[in-house]
Amino acid sequence: MASQKALIIPAKGSPFTLVERPIPTPGPGEVLVKLAATALNPIDYVMRLNGFAVTEYPAEAGIDGAGTIEALGEGVEGTGRSKGDRVLFERLKFSLDYGTFQQYALTDAKRTYKIPAALSFEEASTIPLCLTTAGLALYGPHGPRGGAALTAPWTEGGLEKYKDQPALVFGGSSSVGQFALQFLKLSGFNPIIATASAHNEAYVRAAGATHFIDYHTTPYTALPEAVSKITSTPFSLVFDAISNEETQRTAWGLTGAGGTLAIVRTPVVGEPNVVLDGGRRIAFVWGGVNYMDAEPAGREWADKMYAGVEAFLMDGRLRPNKWEAVTGGLAGIPGALEKVGNLQSSGAKMVARIDSA
Ligand SMILES: NC(=O)c1ccc[n+]([C@@H]2O[C@H](COP(=O)([O-])OP(=O)(O)OC[C@H]3O[C@@H](n4cnc5c(N)ncnc54)[C@H](OP(=O)(O)O)[C@@H]3O)[C@@H](O)[C@H]2O)c1
Repeated sequence: MASQKALIIPAKGSPFTLVERPIPTPGPGEVLVKLAATALNPIDYVMRLNGFAVTEYPAEAGIDGAGTIEALGEGVEGTGRSKGDRVLFERLKFSLDYGTFQQYALTDAKRTYKIPAALSFEEASTIPLCLTTAGLALYGPHGPRGGAALTAPWTEGGLEKYKDQPALVFGGSSSVGQFALQFLKLSGFNPIIATASAHNEAYVRAAGATHFIDYHTTPYTALPEAVSKITSTPFSLVFDAISNEETQRTAWGLTGAGGTLAIVRTPVVGEPNVVLDGGRRIAFVWGGVNYMDAEPAGREWADKMYAGVEAFLMDGRLRPNKWEAVTGGLAGIPGALEKVGNLQSSGAKMVARIDSA
């Protein structure tokens, strides 16, 4: 049986281990992707550390993948995905065959995006998880998995629908923050205010921020005053892409009546995904469409999102993150993850080239 190199987590808390394991066979509706590049995410770090999201051991981390379709499962032929297509995808299942820290992974054919010709595999690999997280947080339906239920820019009347409403993004240079800024711009929000470190100002502005605040020289305690000098209109949308206790408290304090605070980590300011005081909500999102696929209305929503986002990727209105190379292929991932897991990768996604692992 053909085998591949894979970086596995043998048991809870144990170090990553490089092994040989079989190349899996795609099931109905699935494709086998020969991975060229994988991007690292903070979740990969906690999966190894404490078993977050792990359903069985040995486990495979790795959420973001970009590569070439190698084989089609039953029923995929004729659906728009063919052998040899360059695709990017977010891991949708947590079992071993679906992780992206290995040379071949399975995924759902419908939940792949074709990679625009202008993008490298490395660039493409920066997109999946954090784009989905930002997209679901802003446009996903209200419900237990979060979503501010804004009209998405890929639906009729959605482009620039929120013209001249202010938005605030905490962590504009993070991967999630970058995609939140791009979506908010497509939705027409203005001004769009973002926090980051000074050396990332140009990156944050390029993604869509109209105003930039350095959170080192303007600490979060001083942010409300700094923001009041830019706009006096209450925020209907605040996106906290960092979501530590300090950012969440500051962000919630700035969320206007009827507005939504989107967060990406465990809520500390109130119950998520219900209506709170002043008609406000905390949208605590889980950045995967797998739960949407569990019922027909969710599937329909996700189908539209995939078609819409693919069109924006193709015409360049959605762009990948800046990236930095992980040296050493799969073997270099554990070292690089220490930095990523502590949010110390500043303004760049760490990407490992794994086709020559
Ligand atoms: N719920 C979900 O489904 C989901 C999905 C993806 C990610 N997440 C979570 O979202 C968070 C961000 O993930 P990511 O992949 O986007 O991270 P990332 O890109 O690796 O984050 C690094 C960035 O964080 C910024 N940062 C750190 N502390 C900050 C602060 N106090 N204020 C503003 N910016 C700050 C840094 O900005 P500067 O260098 O400019 O200072 C740096 O550019 C993580 O906690 C992650 O676990 C959740």
